[in-house]
Amino acid sequence: MKFFIDTANLDEIKEANDLGVLDGVTTNPSLMAKEGITGTDNILNHYVKICSIVDGPISAEVIATDFDGIVQEGEHLASLHKNIVVKVPMIADGIKAIKYFSSKGIKTNCTLIFSAGQALMAAKAGATYISPFLGRLDDISTEGVQLIAQIRGIYDNYAFDTEILAASVRHPMHIINCAEIGADVATVPLKAIKALLNHPLTTSGLETFLADYAKGNA
Ligand code: E4P
Repeated sequence: MKFFIDTANLDEIKEANDLGVLDGVTTNPSLMAKEGITGTDNILNHYVKICSIVDGPISAEVIATDFDGIVQEGEHLASLHKNIVVKVPMIADGIKAIKYFSSKGIKTNCTLIFSAGQALMAAKAGATYISPFLGRLDDISTEGVQLIAQIRGIYDNYAFDTEILAASVRHPMHIINCAEIGADVATVPLKAIKALLNHPLTTSGLETFLADYAKGNA
């Protein structure tokens, strides 16, 4: 399973990349705003900075919601760096644009997926990735991981190449559940990636090993 980090914070991206297990980055307009990155030029420069840190797919989201606007914006984003993946919302014009980008060899990430039907449409259009939002489904008392399992089954039935990029991942169990189901990618906040490292028996076991070594080598 590939790990992407879900942030626009450059320090967090560097820290995750330094761990050696990072495969890519996802951003969205809210994550950009959270870092105070505003204005088209600053936003585009920020994508280039992220591309200089991580050598993997970097999702950059379009703001346009009409076909012509999505195509124009997406082509410009894709021209910034070879690793840019154009993130397109799950709307009718978005699906048309994904089909267009697919025919031009431009990689896409269809975002705001909340149902199996939407995932099927995005795969039919040739999306490189789809982003089902687990946490936001959990927020409205719907089991997000069940959607991942449903989409996995559908994609396997027809051998769709579209990769399932589990998004809106909030905690380590989301990551484990996605791995069990066979999501291709999980995009995860740094805190949840680091939480995977921890176990109290690892901590106490290491303390004992080091203490015993110190006793024997005093
Ligand atoms: C990533 O591609 C999504 O935009 C992101 O995971 C959404 O996460 P949130 O629901 O925590 O905002």
